Amino acid sequence: MRLKKIYTILFTYLFFNLPFFISEADAQIKPVHLRCEYKNTPVIDIAEPRLSWELVSNRNNQTQSAYQIIVASSVKLLTENGADIWNSGKVLSNSTNQIGFKGKKLLSGKVYYWKVRSWDKSGRASAWSKASTWETGFLKREDWIAKWIGYNLDSLNKNKTYHLPPAPYLRKEANVNKKIKTARLYVTSLGLYEFYINGKRIGEDFFQPGWTDYHKRVYYQVYDITKNIRQGKNAFASILSYGWYSGYLGYAMLVKSPQVRAFYGDTPKLKAQIEIEYAGGEKEYIVTDETWFANQGPLTESDILNGETYDARLELQGWDKPGYNQHGWKSAVVYPENENQALEIYPGNPVRIYKELKAKKIIPRPNGKYIVDFGQNFSGIIRLKVKGAEGDSIILRYGEMLHPDGKLMTENLRKARAADTYILKGDMKEEVWQPGFTYHGFQYVEISGLRKAPSEETVIGLVLSSSVPVTGDFETDNAMVNKLYKNIVWTQLSNYFDIPTDCPQRDERLGWTGDAHVYIKSAIYNNDISAFFTKWMTDLNDAQLSNGAYPSYAPMPMKDGVAMIRKTDSYSPGWMEAGIICTYELYKAYADTRLIEKYWSNMLRFMKFLETKSKGEYIFKERSFEDIHPKGGYGDWLSVGKQTSPDLLATMYYAYCAALMSEMARAIQKTEDKLFFDKVFENVKKKLYEHYTDKTGQFKVDSDIYGNGAGYSHYNPQKGFGGHTQTAYANAIYMRLLSREDTQKAGNYLKELILKNSGKLSTGFLGVKPLLPALSATDNGDMAYKLLLSTEYPSWGFEVVNGATTIWERWNSYTKEKGFENNAGMNSFNHYSFGAVNEWMFGNMAGIKNETPGYRTFIIKPEIPEQGINRVRANYRSINGNIVSGWKKIGRKLEMEAIIPVNTSAWIYIPSSSTDKISINGKQLKKSIYYANTETAGNKVKVKLGSGSYKIDCLLE
Ligand code: BGC
Repeated sequence: MRLKKIYTILFTYLFFNLPFFISEADAQIKPVHLRCEYKNTPVIDIAEPRLSWELVSNRNNQTQSAYQIIVASSVKLLTENGADIWNSGKVLSNSTNQIGFKGKKLLSGKVYYWKVRSWDKSGRASAWSKASTWETGFLKREDWIAKWIGYNLDSLNKNKTYHLPPAPYLRKEANVNKKIKTARLYVTSLGLYEFYINGKRIGEDFFQPGWTDYHKRVYYQVYDITKNIRQGKNAFASILSYGWYSGYLGYAMLVKSPQVRAFYGDTPKLKAQIEIEYAGGEKEYIVTDETWFANQGPLTESDILNGETYDARLELQGWDKPGYNQHGWKSAVVYPENENQALEIYPGNPVRIYKELKAKKIIPRPNGKYIVDFGQNFSGIIRLKVKGAEGDSIILRYGEMLHPDGKLMTENLRKARAADTYILKGDMKEEVWQPGFTYHGFQYVEISGLRKAPSEETVIGLVLSSSVPVTGDFETDNAMVNKLYKNIVWTQLSNYFDIPTDCPQRDERLGWTGDAHVYIKSAIYNNDISAFFTKWMTDLNDAQLSNGAYPSYAPMPMKDGVAMIRKTDSYSPGWMEAGIICTYELYKAYADTRLIEKYWSNMLRFMKFLETKSKGEYIFKERSFEDIHPKGGYGDWLSVGKQTSPDLLATMYYAYCAALMSEMARAIQKTEDKLFFDKVFENVKKKLYEHYTDKTGQFKVDSDIYGNGAGYSHYNPQKGFGGHTQTAYANAIYMRLLSREDTQKAGNYLKELILKNSGKLSTGFLGVKPLLPALSATDNGDMAYKLLLSTEYPSWGFEVVNGATTIWERWNSYTKEKGFENNAGMNSFNHYSFGAVNEWMFGNMAGIKNETPGYRTFIIKPEIPEQGINRVRANYRSINGNIVSGWKKIGRKLEMEAIIPVNTSAWIYIPSSSTDKISINGKQLKKSIYYANTETAGNKVKVKLGSGSYKIDCLLE
């Protein structure tokens, strides 16, 4: 018996590997796409940066059996024997990512060169990869010698509707006398900055250094300025703006807070350190200090939300170049250091111009105004090109929609002014201007003050977004679904803007935690958000409340533990769980255990908060969250129809968080914690079942306990709060809170509720994500497809057929019949939460589902509907490489396509029970080498495949 087994193993091994024994000696795999801390050639300030690469091969079924990394202080030394920083030696491991650097202690301000080679499954070494680098910023606080400088203009422009002081301009000239080898700029601000050397703007980043809890940390950037510095006189210059630090935070205006701006301080400040290394090895430092000069200039108003005014008549000709006459400039003011404020390298992806858009239409309006229609809702700014007389004022107003009479719709901007003004200097040539420190959410720009009709060139749209790399694409044979996908992508682009915002246009733009966790998995398919979310997880944990709850939005400016924007803002069930859910999803997508370790104690504190809040009873009974505002929290925000009890949802989230904690505890080898959270999960599940279900497994809530529901958001006096709702079942199924039998029952109830609701969904923010996955999980995939393909209100398709180019906040934000009738103010047309259907589109339509962290093993299990869609193709570039799943239905014939990255494997589910009718890569499955790895799964066949490209044909049952 044992001998037989050994033979089988030997046979299988030889069978799969034979081709390589007789082929050339080199390994069949090649390491490419080297990254450090999720980025290509980044500057970092981490002691043990994590390295990763992808493997490619032109043969199927390839894995890595070992790797070797070498790191050196110069390219010359980057050889196996020369590597002076680290030689990992041959490490027997199949890991290709999250590999912590273990070499010599890293020093500040150095470039490190590295490369890697991999051994394939037959033990043959690949060639060395191309060299890559990372650079270190400042690893010690003492490396910073620059001081904070600024120029307080806060008292200006005070008595207008908006208090919008001018932007400070700062400058210094310095001599550089020797030959330069390298030069770096280390720069940051409290507020926003642009930095110029000898008249040239440095870098292409916007809105740096990003929004953080500035009392705790400020990020800085590092730029290679070797080519910008010249021997002789140099000018260093900067414009500061108010940004999130001292500008308006719109939500405060909305909620009529006594304070609406300057939440962290009233004066923007700059800290810049230029380090020049001369050819001879000496160093020179030029830093911000009392020798800098300050003034105000043409940027007479500059606010991130309300807009900018640029008076070109006040331009300071040559101020950013050497030899400028500084007459009238004042000495810059030096501000003290705050030792508690960490200075760290920006860990995210900076906001950059993603794309330029040309006008699709130019519509003349009364009184010499025009509206430029870009045909696409987006976040960004415009570039204006005009000619006119000195003092002409061009006013630009922004909107997402037009009223039926053609007027710009601005009601939904609420208190955000969202307007820019350019005052001409009257140049003979064209004058070109674009704002630098404000952005708007818009499709339309109304422009007034022009002397002649605008051309296509007059106003160009500049789309701004955090520069997250694209990882996904999705296409079907259904035009409506394709448009929906595009709308999801545009909404993500518009709102992944330094932090994940709810919407870009109105007086809000906050990092609402509920929106963030509902959508994160959808976002992961579209873009590599590892670095972007590494940044926001810091914001979120920095904002953790003293009772352990995660807040409703982050960053959340606080004073003495109280939210400054609105005192009653704290946390909400369904929102606060972002601290657990986002960490978990990032771990699953990127195999990132460092984030779990970093925030483990914060997450434990949150779980303790839930325990305390439930009085140790593992359940949130009706009215458990009466002490927060709004009562009960935000609930299934913007759902339509019967409202789900927020306490029922809070209990479900409690169980779900416990389950995720258990899995994360296992990932970081915290065995005791794992066992503890297993127990919590079981306890909450049991209590949920006992308290919130009747004997038939139907959810129920004692609605009377809520009385008249005063103070609760969305409470419906006629219907009260319920448990028997689409949102409740969808969540219970998605979170795996029920027994197998009850899960199926819940699926039936869910289907029934949809049918009773004329076949329509009724879910809000908390129900939308799990809705279609829950239907699919309970054999109701056809119903999921029906909801996806519906174009009737409320549905995703309804938005598309009503002209949406982004995802709307409300299902009925606009209808052709009723216009904006439904709550115009609370009506964003660029809100990603309902786009959470993307998770189902990739995960179920294309069927790409993660199994082990980082997609080392995954599943391809597409759901083929009876009708409506005949073709789907999706790709997702995971941290382990690019995955493709596609299928095409021609009558009863199904053609499937799969690409599985090197060093990964996938179970692919083929929707045909008869192996006779399945062929892989042109060969009948039964006669192919893959047959050994085939199993039946219900009415499907599943085959485990190694890396490579596959074409599978079958006949549908
Ligand atoms: C935001 C939402 C957010 C909510 C809290 C709204 O104003 O736009 O997206 O989650 O408030 O319920």
